[in-house]
Amino acid sequence: MTKVLAIGAYTEEEGAALAAAFECHPLADEREIANLPHPLRAEITGVAYKGHQGFGAAEMAHLPNLRLVANYGVGYDSIDIEAASARGITVTNTPDVLNDDVADLAIALWLMQGREMEQASAWARSGRWAQEGEYRRNRKLSGARVGIVGLGRIGREIADRLAAFKCELHYHARSEKETPGWRYYADPVALAEAVDVLFIALVGGPATEGYVSKEVIAALGPRGVIINISRGSTIDEAAMLDALEAGELAGAGLDVFLNEPQIDPRFYALPNVVIQPHQGSGSVETRAAMARLQRDNLAAHLSGAALLTPVN
Ligand code: 8YV
Repeated sequence: MTKVLAIGAYTEEEGAALAAAFECHPLADEREIANLPHPLRAEITGVAYKGHQGFGAAEMAHLPNLRLVANYGVGYDSIDIEAASARGITVTNTPDVLNDDVADLAIALWLMQGREMEQASAWARSGRWAQEGEYRRNRKLSGARVGIVGLGRIGREIADRLAAFKCELHYHARSEKETPGWRYYADPVALAEAVDVLFIALVGGPATEGYVSKEVIAALGPRGVIINISRGSTIDEAAMLDALEAGELAGAGLDVFLNEPQIDPRFYALPNVVIQPHQGSGSVETRAAMARLQRDNLAAHLSGAALLTPVN
């Protein structure tokens, strides 16, 4: 009897591991659930989910015996948690195992943006270094005044790394945290006024939509830089693009966007923006750990053991 529906684009190894561990039916996309034969849908008690399209009440309604949605990823904003809870369906995610990778990428985005590493690399590769001399001056980063928006597990890892860069640390979160003297701001606009660079490490979802607002962006000012490794939805993207184009914001380093991977083409024309294709957790090691945690949650569900990382 098929019990697990594996939805999403898994690698060959991940797909093979799921198939070896479970009676598993792969499905490229959640929109295909409705086309599965009813007897198969009725057998499904667990879903391995890897996607950003959306797994909501309508998808759940096609699976009458569903009890667990094991998400591949720490962010579960594409899953309707309220609808799941209402149906008695538990959702799990993959926290912690990706903190280092995502924080590493945030720092790399900051370094690449400030030191203009993409442009400097192009300068060398095109022969201009040899013909015209040294690359233009750019921006000192160590010791900068930095702000973290969202001091959760990933935000904390980013802050710890920035402390090693001798940065002056400021942060905004729902409540003040225990820190080694980092300055807390209850208001994100006040935080933006106090710093030159904002690292966005919020959770995604309706509660944080447009949280980095036009006002926050204006408060950051023309020397300001935004680094985002959370979700595209956490920033008022149109306001950020306007500010970048108008020189009212110095630059951005972004791993996440609205409508990925069909991102707003205005980004491609901006040399002061470093673009990454949502690869924050994308090392071989970390993705293997995320896939394993997803399978471990499914295995716990099927054997009746306690789930490792439940969300609801
Ligand atoms: C995704 C992520 O899981 O963990 C998260 O929340 O954003 C990513 O690591 C990855 O894109 C696979 O869908």
